[in-house]
Parts: sequence; C-alpha cells; structure tokens
Amino acid sequence: MSVLVTGGAGYIGSHVVRLLRQRGDTVVVVDDLSSGVAANVGDAPLVQLDLSVSDAVDSLRTVIADHGVDAVIHIAAKKQVGESAARPAWYYTQNVGGTAHLMLAMEAAGVRKLMFSSSAATYGNPDVPPGSLMRENGPSSPISPYGETKLVCEWMMRDAARAWGLRGVGLRYFNVAGAGWPELGDPTRFNLIPIALGQLTEGKQPVIFGSDYPTQDGTCIRDYIHVLDLADAHLAALDYLDRDDRPYDIFNVGTGTGSSVSEVLEQIGRSTGYDVRPTIGDRRPGDPATLVADVSRIADALGWRAHHDLAAMVDSAWQAWEPTHGAPAVRPS
Ligand code: UFG
Repeated sequence: MSVLVTGGAGYIGSHVVRLLRQRGDTVVVVDDLSSGVAANVGDAPLVQLDLSVSDAVDSLRTVIADHGVDAVIHIAAKKQVGESAARPAWYYTQNVGGTAHLMLAMEAAGVRKLMFSSSAATYGNPDVPPGSLMRENGPSSPISPYGETKLVCEWMMRDAARAWGLRGVGLRYFNVAGAGWPELGDPTRFNLIPIALGQLTEGKQPVIFGSDYPTQDGTCIRDYIHVLDLADAHLAALDYLDRDDRPYDIFNVGTGTGSSVSEVLEQIGRSTGYDVRPTIGDRRPGDPATLVADVSRIADALGWRAHHDLAAMVDSAWQAWEPTHGAPAVRPS
C-alpha cells in the first residue's frame, strides 16, 4: 500500500512511519516541520507543507498523484490545549482548515481511505459516575478549542462519508507516552511524564496538580498508552479500512486501565532511580478527575489491544530522555 502520512515527522507520526515501512508499505510524509524533525522519517520522501495554506489542495493533489497514494493517515495538527484557548481562530485554521484541504484533495484524487488522529479531548469534562469508562457513543462535550477542532474534523469525515464515499476511521488518543526507539522520544515538555523527567533532571521536584479529587489517592486518573501501541493501532485501522466496507467509525485508543498522577510519579522514581517527592499544588482548571477509555469497540472491530504497561512507557521515555537532556552527576537518591 502507498500511504500518505501527514505529521509523519512528529513524535507520534514518526512511530507510525517506521512501523509502516517495517511491514513493507510505501510512505510519503507531508509535514510543515513546525514541531517535527526531518531526520525522524529516515529516507522516506518528505514534502514540507502547511496544510492550512490556500494552495495546499493543489500541492496535496500533486503529492497524491506523484506517489500513487491509496490511503491517508492524517496526524498533522496543533495539539496544545492551553494554546488553543489563547488562539482559537488559529487552531480552527490549522486543524479544521488543514483537514478540509486534505479531504478536498482526496476527493479530487479519488482517494477514499482516511485514518484521522482524534483525541480524548473530544469528551471534555464528562458528567458521568466516578469510575465510568469513556465510550465512543457517549456524550462529547469538549471544553477547549483544541478538543472542538478534533470533534469538528470527526464530523467532517462523517459528512464526507455520506457525500462522496470517503471511508474514515477516527482514533481518539488517550494519554500518549513512551518511545518505541530512543531517538523518537517526545522532545516537548507538555505532558506529565516529560514535564516530571525535565524537573528531576534539573534537580527539582514534580508538582501534583491537586490531591483532593474523588479518586483512590486523590490525584487525577488518566489512561496512558504507549506510543508504539498507538502507532500499531494506526496500522490496524488501515487494515480495517481495506477489508471492511463500513463507511465511518470512531475508536478509543487506550489500555482501558487508569493510572493516577501519584502512581505515574512513583513509576518515574522506579524507572529513573531519582528520589521522587512531589509537592502538591492547586488543581489545574479543566482537569477531569478520571478519563479512562472503554477499549471494547477497537478490540472487537480492529482486533487491536495495547501490549505495553506503564512501566514500559516510563522506562522507554526515560531511555529517550536521558541521553538528550543529560542527568545531574549525583542523583538525589
Ligand atoms: N499533571 C500534574 N503535574 C504536572 C503535569 C500534569 O499533576 O506537572 C497532571 C494533570 O493535572 C493531569 C495529568 O497529570 O491530571 C495528566 O496531564 P497531562 O497534561 O499530561 O495530560 P492531559 O490528560 O491533561 O491531556 C492529554 C493530552 C491532551 C489531550 C488530553 C485528552 O495532553 O492533548 O489528554 O484528554 F487533549
């Protein structure tokens, strides 16, 4: 299969590109390199393009024709919740505008298979009984422009399925972590694990954003998913689009098991050898107490499930982090 991967030079995309190529698919990457790194795609062809610019449809049609593309994995997007609240119109232009251009190019070129990167942010702050798992057909009430753009793109995919026969799968990522290869680790400090690793390597202690939530240890619970398992779910989604004639579907990608902030920090202590003694800070506005995926739908339809646990995620995140960010000569433990 010849697959166009947008955002293929980024943290998640580069794992997808590597797995696709390992199994023998042909890959062309489109990435604006705003956060991606060209070296991440190896020797796969890379076209530097911002999907939101006005002539992106023509550029994409050329890429699709030149590379005989039969399926698209669309990962390229802006993904910072706080930034989206500060710059909503820009997030809509980037995420919704970019996706619209991609779908116009696919329609014009007759490419019907699309896997779209969505997010658990589409659920928002769910008004569900404590301990409930998120189900794809449950309520979606995003509380950030970022989550809204992901939900709008899901709707756009559904509408294109009705209008011209697009066959789409949206994967709602939960909390992505870890590295499949050390050189492909998450270079940013936007999420709990890299933030805490960064603080510890600088000799500081992590901060827990609230310890009075209605959870077992009072800290927020999330469903952490290894980036390699997540990348594998993209391949399973492509196979599903190949064999099944269902026009449009949405799947959670998580493990189905939650870990609290305290549990994650304890695992970071075990994986790194640091003496982790977090301080307790205020709650962060907008954080739901618990967000854990119901993963039965993806297991049933795609035959996919996660294989890596929290220890594997943190171990691999640390292996990727330590050589590039350095560690103090004397650890506090
Ligand atoms: N947290 C801390 N201290 C920190 C950083 C985070 O206690 O220094 C806590 C947060 O309050 C939260 C948990 O760790 O309870 C995880 O926080 P992240 O920021 O790593 O992740 P979120 O669950 O807030 O967000 C992630 C993705 C979003 C996506 C969302 C979907 O980063 O892009 O999941 O639910 F929208």
